[in-house]
Amino acid sequence: MLENIGTEELISRGQAAVMNTYGRLPMAIARGEGVWVWDVDGKRYLDFLTGLAVNSLGHRHPVIVEAVQKQAELILHTSNLYWIPSQVALAEKLVQNSFADKVFFCNSGAEANEAALKLARKYAKNHYGPHKYEVVSLDNSFHGRTLATLTATGQKKYQDGFDPLPAGFSYVELNDVAGLEEKVNANTAAVLIEPIQGEGGVYPASPEFLQTARALCDKYGALLIFDEVQCGVGRTGKLFAYEWSGVTPDIMTLAKALGGGVPIGAMLATDQAAAGFKPGDHASTFGGNPLATAVGCAVLEVMLAPGFLEGVQERGQYFSHTLQELAAKYGLTENVRGSGMMIGLPVGDQGPQIVESCRQKGLLINCVGGKTLRFLPPLIAGTEEIDQALTILDEVFAEIMGDH
Ligand SMILES: Cc1ncc(COP(=O)(O)O)c(C=O)c1O
Repeated sequence: MLENIGTEELISRGQAAVMNTYGRLPMAIARGEGVWVWDVDGKRYLDFLTGLAVNSLGHRHPVIVEAVQKQAELILHTSNLYWIPSQVALAEKLVQNSFADKVFFCNSGAEANEAALKLARKYAKNHYGPHKYEVVSLDNSFHGRTLATLTATGQKKYQDGFDPLPAGFSYVELNDVAGLEEKVNANTAAVLIEPIQGEGGVYPASPEFLQTARALCDKYGALLIFDEVQCGVGRTGKLFAYEWSGVTPDIMTLAKALGGGVPIGAMLATDQAAAGFKPGDHASTFGGNPLATAVGCAVLEVMLAPGFLEGVQERGQYFSHTLQELAAKYGLTENVRGSGMMIGLPVGDQGPQIVESCRQKGLLINCVGGKTLRFLPPLIAGTEEIDQALTILDEVFAEIMGDH
């Protein structure tokens, strides 16, 4: 297990044995507790990135640890040839707390979106015929790395070198209502939107844009898919981000935080949309497996406890507000973006340098869209820990941008 190994040796062995697909930082995390993680050399960091919106309940949350232990004592895996008690329980919880009637489980965000795209195409073919297979998604979006989901991802850099890409995808600028009206037509099977773009730079979709998407989908018999892989499962201070807009999709995809650190993906749909799939149309060996879904139930139990999501909203507002004040102190006048504990601060070209200085001072964040600092703290982070993060950021800003 390489337990007592330092950073340098680990990196050199990793470079020799692990495929080179990530631009990794020179650090390795060995353990975590609450909002903190420790690297293999024992240095402590405030984790305000949470494995990219995964560890939303922080590290080693007792309810998650207990769920893992209990399920490991019972059974880790059975196949979907049989009914799985924790899978049924998690599906019920998701259905009870969302617009959806049915859930398909898989293992990641990309898989959830792949399932959503397949369902939308099947549904469209069943109801309208073979011409209806097109998907409208957004510039600057991110939906995953399978061939279909990287095609839906409206960023060239993820697509380069993988052509020919699946046919039928086109893109519209976020919040361009007229552009959306131009693109959606009788051949459209689905419109795919992140209610808040995450990887693209923390850009929220406007209520007007989402309402237009809903109206166009209704008009043309297309399915509206919300990708809540990053912004869902409590991140914005509601269980699902779509709840803020009042616009309900036909399909929603989840992953990341739903498993509290155990891989999971889910594709939720209305009964009408879900009927597009019949047995044999889609499947996953591990999808909805006993361990992942038992932990998913534990995650939702914590998030749905009275006051939890309200607390996320309050502390998210506190964080955004104090971050905006700090930014103003250094002449950064653009608005903080996001919702709840999904926050982006535009800082221009210095983003990567700021992220690296924060890391050296013990704060983990990252930079998205080249110019935006992204904060995805654990939803359990208190004001004291938010203040600690801001103190580090203040020092870093002072070093990089000088006193204003
Ligand atoms: C909005 C969104 N959709 C899909 C994905 C892909 O998820 P995964 O990496 O689990 O395949 C991500 C990952 O960052 C995401 O942010």
